[in-house]
Amino acid sequence: MVPWATLLLLGLLFCCCLGHGSQTGAPRVYLTYKELLETRTARPFSFNFNTSDYRILLVDQDQERLYLGARDFLVALDLHNINKEPLIIHWPALPNQENECRLAGKGQRGECFNYIRLMEPLNRTHLYACGTGAYHPVCSLINRGWRSEEYLFRIVPHSLEPGKGKCPYDPRQSSMAVLINNTLYAGVHVDFMGTDAALFRTMGPRPAIRTEQHDSRWLYDPVFLQAHVIPDSSDHNDDKLYFFFREKALEGAVGPAVLARVGRVCLNDDGGQRSLLNKWTTFLKARLVCSVIGEDGVETFFDELRDVFLLPTQDEKHPLLYGVFSTLGSVFRGSAVCVYSMADIRTVFNGPFAHKEGHNYQWGPYTGRVPYPRPGACPGGTFTPGLRSTREFSDELVTFVRAHPLMFHAVYPLQRRPLLVRTNVPYSFTTLAVDLVDAVDGRYEVLFLGTDQGTVQKVIVLPKEQGILEELTLEEVEVFRVPAPVKTLWISSKRQQLYVSSDMGVSQLTLHRCREYGEVCADCCLARDPYCAWDGQRCARYSHTAKRRSRRQDIKHGDPLRQCRGFNAKAKTFWKPDLCLADCLLPAFTEMQWGLRTQGMLFPSRSPCPHHSRTAIK
Ligand SMILES: *[C@@H]1O[C@H](CO)[C@@H](O)[C@H](O)[C@H]1NC(C)=O
Ligand SMILES: *[C@@H]1O[C@H](CO)[C@@H](O)[C@H](O)[C@H]1NC(C)=O
Ligand SMILES: *[C@@H]1O[C@H](CO)[C@@H](O)[C@H](O)[C@H]1NC(C)=O
Repeated sequence: MVPWATLLLLGLLFCCCLGHGSQTGAPRVYLTYKELLETRTARPFSFNFNTSDYRILLVDQDQERLYLGARDFLVALDLHNINKEPLIIHWPALPNQENECRLAGKGQRGECFNYIRLMEPLNRTHLYACGTGAYHPVCSLINRGWRSEEYLFRIVPHSLEPGKGKCPYDPRQSSMAVLINNTLYAGVHVDFMGTDAALFRTMGPRPAIRTEQHDSRWLYDPVFLQAHVIPDSSDHNDDKLYFFFREKALEGAVGPAVLARVGRVCLNDDGGQRSLLNKWTTFLKARLVCSVIGEDGVETFFDELRDVFLLPTQDEKHPLLYGVFSTLGSVFRGSAVCVYSMADIRTVFNGPFAHKEGHNYQWGPYTGRVPYPRPGACPGGTFTPGLRSTREFSDELVTFVRAHPLMFHAVYPLQRRPLLVRTNVPYSFTTLAVDLVDAVDGRYEVLFLGTDQGTVQKVIVLPKEQGILEELTLEEVEVFRVPAPVKTLWISSKRQQLYVSSDMGVSQLTLHRCREYGEVCADCCLARDPYCAWDGQRCARYSHTAKRRSRRQDIKHGDPLRQCRGFNAKAKTFWKPDLCLADCLLPAFTEMQWGLRTQGMLFPSRSPCPHHSRTAIK
């Protein structure tokens, strides 16, 4: 008896260690590309044309289309089936532009093509698209018709126009753009050399304006990532563009080299009257912090912002912002996801401005008199109803704005810590998308995270006790035949599909593969996937409308003892050895385990189950 108990204890300890190890994100199910295809839940875009550098630029829910930009091609895909009759526009760079590009010494790394970088809806029937045009940015109108059944997708003749200030010259420089009310807001590098980066507003009825040129206080070698219009009040005059980027750090010679930022401008900014003419007069930015505090009290920062996902809530003024960060320090390599609230972001923008007396001074909060209206307020909005335009701003205000674009305080994430951290793993996260899923015991945020290894991880994070978070990696799948970093992810909750792009290709996959968790109720229950429940026969997509008895699910605790009573006895396979505990305990115990299991004694309780995989995890 005694040795058995000791051995059992040893076995459980072994288990616990493995369980602990799962914090580094070992998935419950890992599928290679081949295995993923075998599940018939994924579909690679298989139309073969000579291109590369795919990115998903737009998902159009009305027309049920996915618009893709690639090298020299624009593609419109059917959201249901990306291989069904794709509509393709071949849009290469003009031959003379390609020649000029090569004469200018470019082209060794494939720069002298037309890389599509922008595609935004202009109105019900037309899109606006831009490409790098072999270092000669060009834009054009695309007619997509009223309905997808028209199968219309073509460049409007004679609509080609210069794309400077809308699309970068260099395809390797990232950019961001939003087109609202016929007005384009774009964060791009605007010169051939790629040294002048700016936030631009072009098109539309208002004057073209940009950020101050060559002023590192405003932008310092930025990498633009995402921009969204988010209203700040019920008054549309307060509407602002919030944008996310990373840039070189101005703040400290000793601090990190790169920092994550959130910036904002008023949509109705018209620039200054005497100074900041045709420049933003409402431009402000703040640092986004994503950090962990170690047991020794040392704070480790993830500063390299890679991607941002906006999760809408009931209140359009208060979406949640999920940021994916990485750090590439020599000592420490890792990724993290942090979540920010608009309330926290606004608090920082309403707080003190960062100020520096001179070269040899430290940055501190500005303590002098702040001009009225407060820098960053929009004309005609809640705080300045009497003003009609930023051109009415006082010189004092404009001078202040010019010198103080940075806020003193940084924006911290919710709970002041990351939602998810991965360290000492051989990959980093590149992008994310979030889906809200209703399960039996509540609503869950499911994170889909793209990696630089061409896989997508599906993760949920559960509050455990006293502020401790439990992180479960439900699955990791290889989404491309040739592994390449995931570039963009788009979710369609309505269609329960995820669309993933990389340099090499595009794939479509369903959000769930419930069958892969196993063939018995306990497998399904232990998987704790909010999309899946035991329906009495198999692990299947959970639906609230099914009968209570046929939707056994327990995301919070994953307790098969409660959920699967009466089911396992009926299951033909009974306890399959791939149940997690069997993987985990030393093989010598198998006999004993079986004995204990049949008596219902050896169930893993509330700890996350160590993960099993159909193939060894590389
Ligand atoms: C594909 O494109 C590359 C770059 O333009 C070109 O060198 C190659 O010849 C093309 N291949 C085919 C089969 O057209
Ligand atoms: C959309 O814009 C294009 C270009 O300005 C115009 O030709 C077209 O008529 C517009 N369509 C609608 C439905 O407004
Ligand atoms: C676009 O213009 C319309 C009409 O002027 C206005 O009601 C709407 O709020 C504007 N949208 C945005 C995002 O500014």
